Amino acid sequence: MHLRTPSRALGYDIHMGIAVTERAKQLFLDAFDEAAEVMGSAPGRVELLGNHTDYNGGYVLTAAVDIRTAVVVRKTAGGMTRIVTELPGHQAANIDLAMGPAHLTDSNRWCGYIAGVLDHFSPPGSTWDVAVASDVPDGSGISSSAAVLVATASAVLTALDLSLTTMEIAVACRAVENGRWVGAPVGLLDQFSSACGEHGMALFLDCNTFEWKRVPLSAERLGILIVNTNVKHALADGGGYTTRRKECEAAALKLSDGRTALLRGVTEAEFNDGISDVEQPSQNRARHVWNENNRVLVGTECLINADVLGFGAMLNASHASCRGLFENTCPEIDKVQQILERTSGVFGAKLSGGGWGGSVVALVDPAMLDAIIANVVGEYGDGLTILSTYAASGAQGVKV
Ligand code: GLA
Repeated sequence: MHLRTPSRALGYDIHMGIAVTERAKQLFLDAFDEAAEVMGSAPGRVELLGNHTDYNGGYVLTAAVDIRTAVVVRKTAGGMTRIVTELPGHQAANIDLAMGPAHLTDSNRWCGYIAGVLDHFSPPGSTWDVAVASDVPDGSGISSSAAVLVATASAVLTALDLSLTTMEIAVACRAVENGRWVGAPVGLLDQFSSACGEHGMALFLDCNTFEWKRVPLSAERLGILIVNTNVKHALADGGGYTTRRKECEAAALKLSDGRTALLRGVTEAEFNDGISDVEQPSQNRARHVWNENNRVLVGTECLINADVLGFGAMLNASHASCRGLFENTCPEIDKVQQILERTSGVFGAKLSGGGWGGSVVALVDPAMLDAIIANVVGEYGDGLTILSTYAASGAQGVKV
């Protein structure tokens, strides 16, 4: 068991407590025999409310968390772009950015996230040395992919002396994730959370207009508990995520008589009049997204009014809808959520992120944390990793 403060991790490999930023710098020095020039760092995130609403043009409520990826870079004078990492199972790669992703192999495909960002921001013909260290576990529902994209972008923009807003960084990173280097059909939730996160704040985003606002989420009143089932999910391989997107689009087109493929563009009258006629499973997917958008609005008001019980009820309802209507949970996720929902000191709990594995996020009474963790571990048994954390700051780029 490992514990650390102020965030605490149970069962995580925390690299003997060495900060992720220091590990990235050391890795760079070891691999390339020179010190790096700049460093970007970016956090993982929890999806508080708004499950699969983002690519439907809907609302999300999210928070960056205190667990980060660090990317250090140096612009080089030609040759190949060289990428190294400490991450197990992630092979180093020498890449010619001009050749595109076709020559990535299965073992270095993860470099596509980094190469895609380098390719997006740097002038043609640029070459880089890059080292990546991360505390954000892969496939755990807290968005390791957004953390690496946004950290790379922050480093590269600093190296190139380019200044973008955090929202512009998020939008660019989503384009990279959707584009040829990665090809995952995701929405804006993850990159937005990682780029725009703020200490002590949840973030509300309208994915249709890109308007967003901060909503206080004080760590003294509400702790964030992330319970990782260690059941892996992957979005880049399509699978359930791509299918769900198509089912939502089919429902929107049917409800709006072909006017819009975004459920957000469907009017209330169109939804109420037409939803029973939408074929299954699109009908259930659309009901989930429709209700989930309302839960984001109601839950955000609860948070603003310090109504933690009301907020928690929205989380529990969100999860029930994932399980029953959107069908993007799995037995391990449901078991953890059910244990949390009935544990005293837990206000609410739900699946965080794409689904079919990964983590459950719970909002908890910080004073009862130890008892809550003991209860979850006692009832579930082995196999969980647990992180107690808080709403943390977003991406940063610095010269080192
Ligand atoms: C993943 C995607 C996000 C979002 C969530 C589900 O995390 O990357 O864009 O769709 O799933 O809400």
